[in-house]
Amino acid sequence: MWSRSEEPPPGGPDAQRVRRVVYDEGRIRDRVEALGRDITAYYGPREGGNHPPPGLLVLGLLKGSFIFLADLVRKIELPLQVDFVVVSSYGAGIESSGRVDLLYDSATSVVGRNVLLVEDIVDSGTTLSRLVPLLESRKPASLEICALLHKRIVALEKEPRWVGFEAPEEFLVGYGLDHAEDFRHLPFIGSL
Ligand code: IMP
Ligand code: MG
Repeated sequence: MWSRSEEPPPGGPDAQRVRRVVYDEGRIRDRVEALGRDITAYYGPREGGNHPPPGLLVLGLLKGSFIFLADLVRKIELPLQVDFVVVSSYGAGIESSGRVDLLYDSATSVVGRNVLLVEDIVDSGTTLSRLVPLLESRKPASLEICALLHKRIVALEKEPRWVGFEAPEEFLVGYGLDHAEDFRHLPFIGSL
C-alpha cells in the first residue's frame, strides 16, 4: 500500500492496490525498444544477401500479451503481419495431456513463415511447452519466442530467444498481466 507522503503510481485506484512497482513505464519503454532493435537485426536482411526473407508473422498469445505486442511491433522495423492465438488455461493439478486447447486459432497460415510468438510471462512453462510443438507441426520456416518476463522456474525445451526482464518469483500485474482479469490496464508492472 502507498502512504500519502509518496507519489502514487499512475493507473488510478487499481494502481494503489499494488504492493510495489517492479518495472515502471520508462523502464518498460526502454526495454521494449531494445527488444525491437534486436528483433529487427535478427530478422533483417543479412549483409551481402539480396534475397528478402520470408515475411515475419508476429503471433500474440492472448490476452496477456496485448499491450506488450502493441508496443513491440511498433519498434520492429521490418515488414510483418500480426495475428493472435488464445490458449485455454488449466488450473493446477490438471494432468498435462501434451495437447493444447486453442480457444482461438490464428487465421493466418504459418507454413513457411518466420513466426515470432509473443508471450507476456513464462511461469511454469506449461503454455509454451504445449503450444510450441503444435506450431512446429505446422511447418513454419522458423519459430522463435519473445517473452516480456521470465521467472526461470523450469528449463524449457525451447527457450525464448528474447526476454524483456528476468522476473522475480512474485505475482505480477499490469501492462497486460492480470489477476482475475483486473489490473491489465496499469501502465507499469507491479507485484501484488
Ligand atoms: P505458464 O504456462 O505457467 O508458463 O504460465 C503462463 C501464463 O500464466 C501467462 O501467460 C500468464 O497469463 C499467467 N501467469 C503466470 N505468472 C503470472 C504472474 O505473475 N502474473 C500474471 N499472470 C501470470
Ligand atoms: Mg493470465
